Amino acid sequence: MTPPSAPPTIDVSAGSPLATIAHPGSAVRHLRAAGVSIVLDCDGPRLPRVVHWGADLGDLDAATLQAIVRADVQAVVSNVPDRPITPSVLAEHATGWMGLPGLIGHRGGADWSTLFVVRSVATRVDLDGTQRVTVQAVDEAARLELGLVLELLRSGVLRMKATVTGSADADPDRPYTLDGLTLSLPVPRRAAELLDFTGRHLRERHPQRRAFDVGSWVRDNRRGRTGSDATVLLAAGTPGFGFGHGEVWAVHTAWSGNHRTVAERTPNGHALLAGGELLLPGEVALGPGDSYTSPWIYGSYGTGLDAVAGRFHRFLRDRPGHPATPRPVILNTWESVYFDMDLPTLLDLADHAAAVGVERYVLDDGWFVGRRDDHAGLGDWQVDPDVWPRGLHPLVDRVTSLGMQFGLWVEPEMINPDSHVARAHPDWILATGGRLPVESRHQQVLDLANPDAFDHILGSLDALLREYRISYLKWDHNRDLIDAGHRADGRPAVHEQTLAVYRLMDELRRRHPRLEIESCSSGGGRIDLEVLQRTDRVWASDCIDALERQTIQRYTGLLLPPELIGAHIGTDRAHTTGRRHNLSFRAGTALFGHMGIEANLARLSATERAEIADWVALHKRLRPLLHGGRVVRFDDVDPSLLVHGVIADDRSEAVISVAAVATADSAPTGRLVLPGLDPDALYDLALLPPGDMIQDEDGHRPQGNNHRLPPWLTTGIRLTGAVLGHAGVQWPELLPEQLLLLHARRV
Ligand code: GLA
Repeated sequence: MTPPSAPPTIDVSAGSPLATIAHPGSAVRHLRAAGVSIVLDCDGPRLPRVVHWGADLGDLDAATLQAIVRADVQAVVSNVPDRPITPSVLAEHATGWMGLPGLIGHRGGADWSTLFVVRSVATRVDLDGTQRVTVQAVDEAARLELGLVLELLRSGVLRMKATVTGSADADPDRPYTLDGLTLSLPVPRRAAELLDFTGRHLRERHPQRRAFDVGSWVRDNRRGRTGSDATVLLAAGTPGFGFGHGEVWAVHTAWSGNHRTVAERTPNGHALLAGGELLLPGEVALGPGDSYTSPWIYGSYGTGLDAVAGRFHRFLRDRPGHPATPRPVILNTWESVYFDMDLPTLLDLADHAAAVGVERYVLDDGWFVGRRDDHAGLGDWQVDPDVWPRGLHPLVDRVTSLGMQFGLWVEPEMINPDSHVARAHPDWILATGGRLPVESRHQQVLDLANPDAFDHILGSLDALLREYRISYLKWDHNRDLIDAGHRADGRPAVHEQTLAVYRLMDELRRRHPRLEIESCSSGGGRIDLEVLQRTDRVWASDCIDALERQTIQRYTGLLLPPELIGAHIGTDRAHTTGRRHNLSFRAGTALFGHMGIEANLARLSATERAEIADWVALHKRLRPLLHGGRVVRFDDVDPSLLVHGVIADDRSEAVISVAAVATADSAPTGRLVLPGLDPDALYDLALLPPGDMIQDEDGHRPQGNNHRLPPWLTTGIRLTGAVLGHAGVQWPELLPEQLLLLHARRV
C-alpha cells in the first residue's frame, strides 16, 4: 500500500461545458451552481473539508482559493490541541474534533478512532451539469477504506454520501461493527437560529424554532420509516429568517428507515448540520471487502426558506422520472366507503367521479381476501372473491371506459397475523427476543430481506399489475417497526428492510415502467428524498381538514413541489377533526397540490357536485402554472392569514391563496404585499372565481360581497409589480376558515 504521506492524485475529466469547476488542478475545489458556491479543501492528507457553503463567491483563481482556505485556519488558543481543528465532512475525533464523530464503530473494542489518509481526489462534470468530487481514503491501522462523494447539482442543491469498506486484508474474525456514519456541513456563526419540524399522525410537519446555542440538537428517528415526526428539513439561519428573507442553510437526511439529523455548535467556533442513518446495535458488521453506504445527505442554501425550497423543487423536477404528464385529478375511495365495498356503490362513485372531471380513480384499502376491517388480510394480495366474484374487472372496465385511470391501494410490507400468508409463513414476520412485537393497527411487518418473502410479495403485486390495467399504486405503510429483527437469529433488520423496500419498488417499476407510485404511510409518514427517487406523489396526511392541511402542506412544500403533494377535497365535515368548512376553503386548499376528492360524491347534492366540478375545472386550467411555477409564501401578513401562491417562471401570471386560519389581529387586516412579480410590469389583480366567495357566518354571500370588501376587490385593479411588491393592496376581514383566491396577470 502507498505510504500515508503520499500526495493525493488528481484525476479531472470534464464531461460537459454546462458547468465549470474552477481550477480543478488545484487541491481546493470551487463548485458553483445556481447562485451557490462550495469551496472544498482537498489538500490532504486529511479528509476534505467544506470551507464555504453558501452564496456564490464569483469566479476565483487558484491563489484566491488557497487564500480562502488559509483565511479559515483558526488560531490555536489556550488548552486546545496544538494543531487547529478543522472538521471534515466526516469529522474525526483523532483530528481533535470533540463533537459528534462522523464514523462510530470498532473491532471488538479496537480501531474505534480512525484517521483516514486521502489517496485520490477525482472531479467530474456530468452532461446534466452535476459537479462531483470523489475522494478515496484509507486508514491502514483500522483496516478501513472510505469513499466520499460530494455533488453540487445544477439546482444548487448539494448532496454527499460515504461508503466505508473493510480492507481486504482485515482479520475476518474481527469484523468492524459500524455504529454510525454521519456527514456534516459547516454553517457560519450568523446562522444563530434553528428551525426543524415535528408532528404525529394527522398533524405532520409542524415547525419548531430555537436558538442555535452551543450543544447538539439531535433529531433521532427509530420508527423504521421516515416518520410523521421526522424533520423534513433541519435549517439554520440568521435570526428571524422567514420565507423571503434571511440567509438559510438546510439539510435533509434522505432515508426511509431509522435516521438522525443533527445541528451541533461547539465552544470552539464550529457549527455543523449533519445527517446519517441511525444503525441499531450490531446491524452492520463489515468483514474484509464488505461495504456500507450511507444515505445521501442533502443541503440547500438560500435567501429565505422559499429559495431553499425552490432549489429542492428544481432538483425534484430535474429527476429523470419526474412525472411528465399533467397530474390527474384523483378520486380516492377511502373516506367515501372505507371497508364497506360493494360493486354497485363503487360503480356509481366512478360515474359521479367522471362527471365532475376526475381522471384517476383509486380503490383504497378493503378489496383483498379477508379484508372486511383492519384486523385481517394484509399479506394476502388477491382480490376477495366473496366481494368481487368477477374480480376487479367490472370496476376497472367501468373506470377505464369512463376515460379514467385505475389505481389500487396496497401495503406490501405489512402482514396481519390473521392472514393466510402469516399462517403459512410465521417465520416471515420481523421479530426478536423469541416473541412477537406488540401489534399496531393489528399488524406486523414482513421481513422483505427474506428472499422468499420478497419474491412472494413481488409476485403477488406483479400478478395484479399484469391482470388489471393499474396505472397507480397507493403504497401504504401503517405502523412503526418495533423489535424488528430477522426471525431466525433476532438480528436487527431495519437497515436491510429499508433497502429491500427500495429494491421492491425499483423492480416493480422496471417491470411496469408506466406505473406511478404514491408514498403513503399512515398519511405523511414516508416523505423523504430517497423514497421520492422511486415515487410520484406523497399523501401528505390522513387529515383532510383544510385548516390543518394549510399548515401541513405549507411545510411539506419546503421539500416537495406542489405537484408531488396529494391534496384532496374532503366532505364538509372533516372525518378526523369534526370541523365543518365551506367548499371554497376545502377546495382552495386542495387546489395547489396534486388535487383529488375524498368524499362520497353520490351523497352530495347536484349543486355541490356542480361546484366541485367548477373547482376541478379551475385546477385543470391552472395546472401548468401550479405545477411548474415558483412557490412563494408570504411573511409579512396579519397573523390570522396564511398566504401563499405560485408565480410563473416568466412572471407573467400568479395565483395566490389567502386563507384566514384564525380571527384577525386587526380588522380590516391592512395591506397585503405581493412580492416576487416583475417590478416593471403592469398586472391586473382580481379575485379568481370560484375562489371569490366571501361568506357570512351562515355561509351566505352577503349583499353581493360588497360590504365586506375594499373597493378595489369588487372590480380588480391594475398596478405594477413594484407597487404590488412594496405598497400592496388593502385586504378585507375574512371570517376564520375562509379562503380567497387572487389572480395576477401581466398586461
Ligand atoms: C392509511 C392511509 C389512508 C388509508 C388507510 C387505509 O391510514 O393513510 O389514506 O389508505 O390507511 O387503511
